[in-house]
Amino acid sequence: MARAYLRAGGNVVLGGRDRRRLEDARSWILQQESLPAASPRLCCREGDLAHDGQAEALVAFALQNFASVDHLACFAGGGGADDPIDTQSAGDWEAIVRNNVFASARSARASLPELRRNRGSVLFCSGGGAWFPETSAHHTAYAVAKAALCRLTDQLAFELLSDGVRVNCIQPGMVWNEHDLARVEAEERARGEPHPMRAHNHRPEDAAELALWLLSECSAPLSGRLVALDDPWWRTALRIDLERIQADPHAYTLRRSVPDWQR
Ligand SMILES: NC(=O)c1ccc[n+]([C@@H]2O[C@H](COP(=O)([O-])OP(=O)(O)OC[C@H]3O[C@@H](n4cnc5c(N)ncnc54)[C@H](OP(=O)(O)O)[C@@H]3O)[C@@H](O)[C@H]2O)c1
Repeated sequence: MARAYLRAGGNVVLGGRDRRRLEDARSWILQQESLPAASPRLCCREGDLAHDGQAEALVAFALQNFASVDHLACFAGGGGADDPIDTQSAGDWEAIVRNNVFASARSARASLPELRRNRGSVLFCSGGGAWFPETSAHHTAYAVAKAALCRLTDQLAFELLSDGVRVNCIQPGMVWNEHDLARVEAEERARGEPHPMRAHNHRPEDAAELALWLLSECSAPLSGRLVALDDPWWRTALRIDLERIQADPHAYTLRRSVPDWQR
């Protein structure tokens, strides 16, 4: 995502809790993009965004380095272990909700003065766990967290409509992250054949393309919507299609479904 944003001409501040991981990501991205190692276009600042003051400090840091904050992409979180609710500690369960939901809500709150000033946009990150039951997995905390992010998207979008700040949410589907890819590659070496997950996973570049589309004016006037990388329509959507979706307050949102026979 950061690579795609840089390539589109933007400057980026990466946030996360682990300074070394951030520095490694920064070096790798600059190298991949053939930018000098000292490039001021990509900065990073460590901090737990679910903790008091850290999201505000991240925004202040961005403003020390750049003239404005135009977009906010909150991807912090993830799923954690596949544990039943009664064997997972309450602390671990709550940490999943905190890292996904609180980090995102706090980052959005801290960025609002800048986003209002620049009529910018926000992107949250949900997951399929928000709306389809994962029947063979133990993911209650993940489901709660990702469903909360869908409603945060929906509700905040209404709250910010008159400010001209758009809020959307990506459902990336299955995307390789560094840990998954390392595991799959190790299994492939052992088996000597392509891993079956290769058929289902998206490339990070594809998720980045959707993320950039949702943050940029290309997706206006869409706001408050959940768009999945598996959706076929967004790549070819015309402004008139997006206006039609936006006119329907329920389209591409998390809602209760009522069976046809009870309507
Ligand atoms: N990969 C997939 O197939 C997939 C599918 C659906 C949804 N998603 C969602 O996509 C997002 C990225 O996932 P990923 O697969 O790339 O996993 P990941 O590598 O574990 O990314 C999660 C990121 O969130 C950061 N983070 C977590 N808690 C934080 C906090 N409190 N403050 C600041 N940073 C925090 C982590 O950095 P530190 O640990 O260094 O802080 C890490 O960079 C997640 O929200 C995940 O749920 C992924």
